[in-house]
Amino acid sequence: MKVLIVGGGGREHAIAASVAKSGKVKKIYCAPGNAGIAQIAECVPIGVMEFDALTAFAVEKGVDLVIVGMDDPLVGGLVDVLEAAGLRVFGPRKNAAILEGSKAFSKDLMKKYGIPTAAYETFDSPEAALAYLEKAPMPIVLKADGLALGKGVLICRTPEEAKAGVVSIMQEKQFGDAGNRLVIEEFMTGREVSVLSFVDGKTIRTMTSAQDHKRAGDGDTGLNTGGMGTFSPSPFYTPEVDAFCQKYIYQATVDAMAAEGRPFQGIIFFGLMLTEKGPRVLEYNARFGDPEAQVVLPRMKSDIIEVMEACIDGSLDKVELTFADNAAVCVVLASGGYPVSYEKGFPITGLERFAQKEDVFCFHAGTKEAGGSIVTNGGRVLGITALGKDLKAARAAAYDAAAWVSFEKKYMRHDIGKAIDEAEQ
Ligand code: AMP
Ligand code: GLY
Repeated sequence: MKVLIVGGGGREHAIAASVAKSGKVKKIYCAPGNAGIAQIAECVPIGVMEFDALTAFAVEKGVDLVIVGMDDPLVGGLVDVLEAAGLRVFGPRKNAAILEGSKAFSKDLMKKYGIPTAAYETFDSPEAALAYLEKAPMPIVLKADGLALGKGVLICRTPEEAKAGVVSIMQEKQFGDAGNRLVIEEFMTGREVSVLSFVDGKTIRTMTSAQDHKRAGDGDTGLNTGGMGTFSPSPFYTPEVDAFCQKYIYQATVDAMAAEGRPFQGIIFFGLMLTEKGPRVLEYNARFGDPEAQVVLPRMKSDIIEVMEACIDGSLDKVELTFADNAAVCVVLASGGYPVSYEKGFPITGLERFAQKEDVFCFHAGTKEAGGSIVTNGGRVLGITALGKDLKAARAAAYDAAAWVSFEKKYMRHDIGKAIDEAEQ
């Protein structure tokens, strides 16, 4: 079987590594890929938004399965374009990817179908949003409706901060058209957990839980990033929490999408907050999380291709999804200055040590080959994942391996997985 993976970050490297383990796959292409993916796949220089070029390439090469990993092409309708050319595709169509593409849509869906989430209001004009803030309780959460590289959420402590946020999102268009509409949401507190799932339109199979660290600095300080590190499983995701979410959130979301005439086929990522009143949905994504994929997929025992094909064929109810009874921790190595401004092009050394290892992985996020060596090419450069018998062992191994790699301006958080210790208290 020939597989084409669309994307080029740490998530796509983790997907490619899982796909490479499937006995069914003979050839993997990745567009555009990166220097790490190039070690297991043939990378082709086609951008993720070049729908016609991607389609022509997949048709010409006789690709049997296309996996779309990233939010922008999913929300933009790449799956529909590929399917129209007769290709088999894993990922939601445009009318279902809206679950991630519009926060107003997802909030309305949850409200209509009684799925637990924060109370909210939606605004199309800055004047109405500003008027609402006159009487709103603080803190409060502002969310740009559309895709904003994971940065479109502002948590505001005072009315002044919130009003400045409305101006910056809706008038100054800090996140471009993503800010044409604004969701203003109740502020919640609690532990965050990410639960990823495979969905075939009607059946859902959840994967093992994970937790991300979104802030740039130790102690959850600094700006929001795409994710600075993850661990899996979350010690806070108990069987009771799982039972609640299975009953009121997961299947309910899949059924709601089907009832709306938007059957969802692909990955639903549930961003959950475990509040005092029970689990609540913070957000949905229509794809694997990054770096969540880098801890969840290495723990998956099922053949990813079999599971993805079952999603496409609507036979996921016949598939058992299994995960190893171990743990994984991923530490992201970033380029100093991320997520604001950072330099690229620094040579990376120490990568060869990973080749010998079975339980330590170096997933490439922003790297490329230049003049025979691998150089930094993005804000998040590498994701260093280690498996262990438990979370503490995995964390120690991940930090050991993070020290093997060197590049100028290398930056990482030192407290990935601190919740592991907090869970014991
Ligand atoms: P989102 O992109 O919706 O996941 O939001 C990004 C981050 O903002 C989340 O991971 C939370 O840490 C935080 N956040 C989002 N919504 C809320 C909320 N209603 N209350 C508190 N924090 C939130
Ligand atoms: N790590 C969060 C995300 O992928 O959106």
